[in-house]
Formats: sequence, structure tokens, C-alpha cells
Amino acid sequence: MSRLPDVLDAPAVGHASVLLAPAVQALVAHQPPTSLAHQVFVDATVGGGGHTLALSQALPPSARLIGLDQDPEAIERARSVLADTHPPVTLVTGNFGQLGAHLDALGVEYITGGILLDLGYSAFQIRSQTRGFSFQTDAPLDMRMSPTQPRTAADILNTWPEADLVALFKTMADERLARPIARVIGRQRAVAPIESTTELAKLVSKVYAQKGLGDKQRIHPATRVFQALRMAVNDEIPMLKTCLEHLNDRLAPGARAAIITFHSVEDRVVKQHFRHYSAPCLCPPGLPVCQCQAQPLYHKPQKPIVPGPDEIEANVQARSAKLRVAVKR
Ligand SMILES: C[S@@+](CC[C@H](N)C(=O)[O-])C[C@H]1O[C@@H](n2cnc3c(N)ncnc32)[C@H](O)[C@@H]1O
Repeated sequence: MSRLPDVLDAPAVGHASVLLAPAVQALVAHQPPTSLAHQVFVDATVGGGGHTLALSQALPPSARLIGLDQDPEAIERARSVLADTHPPVTLVTGNFGQLGAHLDALGVEYITGGILLDLGYSAFQIRSQTRGFSFQTDAPLDMRMSPTQPRTAADILNTWPEADLVALFKTMADERLARPIARVIGRQRAVAPIESTTELAKLVSKVYAQKGLGDKQRIHPATRVFQALRMAVNDEIPMLKTCLEHLNDRLAPGARAAIITFHSVEDRVVKQHFRHYSAPCLCPPGLPVCQCQAQPLYHKPQKPIVPGPDEIEANVQARSAKLRVAVKR
């Protein structure tokens, strides 16, 4: 079995990597170190570099490790965190929705070892004073993880029809006051465009207060609206689905995908993808004999791994995390 690095026990600086040890173990611990030589691994969400660093320390120097993030600031920061690793990390600024093109550009046909996706945003992004991810900091409503994203949160908020905002808040964040919130946004933007995080947070809090729910919330009332907007700005679910399709073609037999999700919408996408492609038969229910002769692409998925109470106590962001692991046939 592979040696697991000391960094797995070390406290994280900046971004606390969630499910660090289980994620690295899922990718490498089933193999003796000798068989990891020359294998290709990808961390498709480098962020603060914590998982990438731990993975590099668990790999022999001859392995190949590629780190991807769509946020150029994350890639620049990771350059110093990952400066002295063996194997060296090839860092690429890009979207995991274009995973195939990134691998092609690097001359990699197959991911022979494994890939990690740690979804969502990093502590650096949420703490930024200027990027508008958080209602706790007054900033322009931007929320783009990459400057190449074509629209900001303010663009969506001020131009989408109210019905589309309702659908967004409901489907991406299960917001139960989606309709009244969209109505208030519609009224406000008819007077002047909504431009700042605090302005939006106040509008949403007001709707909750008017419904008598203001002080009954476990989390800030604007949390779900901010999540839904961030997901729309960054096209998060379509990019995740496209990346999963790439994995069907680019994972070599025996290679693994370890995917950490933080809410039910993205977790459902991951669960359903691997369930679908590991099913021995895709015929509609009720057919007496299988017609599809499906070839399952993955071994039967196991239950997700979740953080223990110690990790949740140390890092509240971990409370909703789930790690799903898929093994290519
Ligand atoms: C939760 S953080 C990753 C933290 C990292 N695992 C660590 O240990 O520091 C998620 C990162 O994924 C990046 N990201 C989100 N969606 C992406 C996508 N579609 N393509 C590439 N990177 C993405 C974000 O920019 C962010 O830096």
C-alpha cells in the first residue's frame, strides 16, 4: 500500500482542504507505490493547492501530476505552494469542462492514475474583498471564478426575467422564498440596478423578515440566493456534467475519480452519472429480456465518504461535504 504523507495531518493555511486524507487515499492507497510510477493524475480544482500538495507527496517522483483551475489567481498562488514538489505539478489555467482539450494540449491520452474534483469555491475566493462571492463583504456583484466567464452576477440579477430568477433560486438552491425574492428584485431594479453584495443581502433579508422568518434561519437568509447566482455565473452544473462525460473516455481501466461535492444539486449529478454508467443494463424497466447489452464503464459505486465530527468542528465548511469515488472498469 502507498505511504500517506505527513501533510495529511497538518493544519491548512488559507484554504482548509476538505476530506484531504480520504480523497488522497481513494486515489492512491489501493496500489503499492511501485505501481504508481509513471501514472498520470489530475487535480482539476487546484484552489489553494492543499489536495494537490498532499497528492504529490503520496506519489513517486516519476508519476505525472497535472493541476487545473479556472481561476488564474488560484493558479498563480499554487505556483509557490507547489514550487518544490516531486513529481513537479504541471499547472494549467482552464475549465474542467474542457478537460479533453487540456489533456490533448499536454499530450495526455488517458488519465491512468486518477482525478480529483473538489467542487465549489475556495476560501480565497469567498474572502476576496472585490470578487463579490460573499454577502459578508461589500463588493460589486461579480462572482466570476474566471475572467473569461461572459456575465457577472449583477448582469444576471438585473437582466433575467423574474420567472427565470425564480427557477434559478429554486433549482440551484432550493430557495423556498424564490418567488417573493425575485419579485422584490424586479421592483428594485426598475428603480436602479442592483450592484453590490450588501444591497442584495439586505433585499433578501427584508423578504425573510416580512414573512416573519427573519430570526428563524440557521444560516444567513441570503446564502441560497448567493449560491444560485454563483452557480449560474460559472455555469457550474453544465461544466460538471461535461467533465463527467470526458471522464468516461479519458479514464484508463482501473483509474479512479474522487469527487467532493458540497450540496445536493451537484452531488445528485455525480451520483446519477456513476450509477447510470455502472448499471449492467440500461433498458427501460419491464422488458423481459435485456436489449441494450450495456457495457458498464465503472465498478458499482460505494456509499459516499463524509467528514467526521472532528473535521466538521475544525472546519464548518466541511459539514455538507460528500466524497464519491468511481473506479473505471
Ligand atoms: C473548493 S476549491 C478547491 C480547493 C483545493 N482542493 C484545496 O485543497 O485547496 C474549488 C476550486 O475549483 C475551482 N473550480 C470551480 N469550478 C471549476 C471548473 N469548472 N474548472 C476549473 N476549476 C474550477 C475554483 O476556482 C476553486 O479554486
